[in-house]
Amino acid sequence: MESGRLRVELSQLSDTVHTVELCVTNTLRKKTLSLQRLELASLPAQDTVRLESALRALTSASCLQTGFFNEACIRCHGGGNQSARGLNLTEGHSMAMLVNVPAASHPELLRVSGGRPEESLLHQILAESGQDVLHVNHVEILHKLGVDTDVLRTFIDEWIKSLPPKDPNS
Ligand code: HEC
Repeated sequence: MESGRLRVELSQLSDTVHTVELCVTNTLRKKTLSLQRLELASLPAQDTVRLESALRALTSASCLQTGFFNEACIRCHGGGNQSARGLNLTEGHSMAMLVNVPAASHPELLRVSGGRPEESLLHQILAESGQDVLHVNHVEILHKLGVDTDVLRTFIDEWIKSLPPKDPNS
């Protein structure tokens, strides 16, 4: 995703279209991550809606933030005393709290172990067999999001693979 270029142009939208939603989908067009919602009424009148600036800002991390953490996680991992296990998944905090940080519940594991999805607690709690890893069943939370869970898991694993490993000296 970081290296790809994508141009989206929607021409001649009818008056009955009120919202444009940009999503990552699987091959069956089932929504996986909702990235950006644009209310057309909030844009200047024009017959072509350009999503370019929104698209330019997209990275795997920003897609996970918008489409996943904001939707499914921050009601329990929302910062301040709303952060279960001290894990704050709100924008601007989530990456520093996840990547190469030891888990509070399983100190032998990293929450996200750069380059190693299978060794990451995040991967394990979202796997189909992960319902008992924590006291709260996070697989169920994933399923309730109503997206293609396999595509989302692959997306998360690819993101973890792209991250640098933990510096052994730190
Ligand atoms: C209903 C509340 C709730 C929601 C929603 C929720 N969590 Fe949690 N989460 C918890 C609780 C409670 C714990 C601590 C469980 C334990 O210690 O066994 C936890 C623990 C974790 C941990 C382990 C942290 C550590 O250091 O041990 C991770 C990682 C995590 N959650 C990620 C997520 C992600 C990603 C989402 C969104 C998909 C999410 N959680 C949604 C309640 C929630």
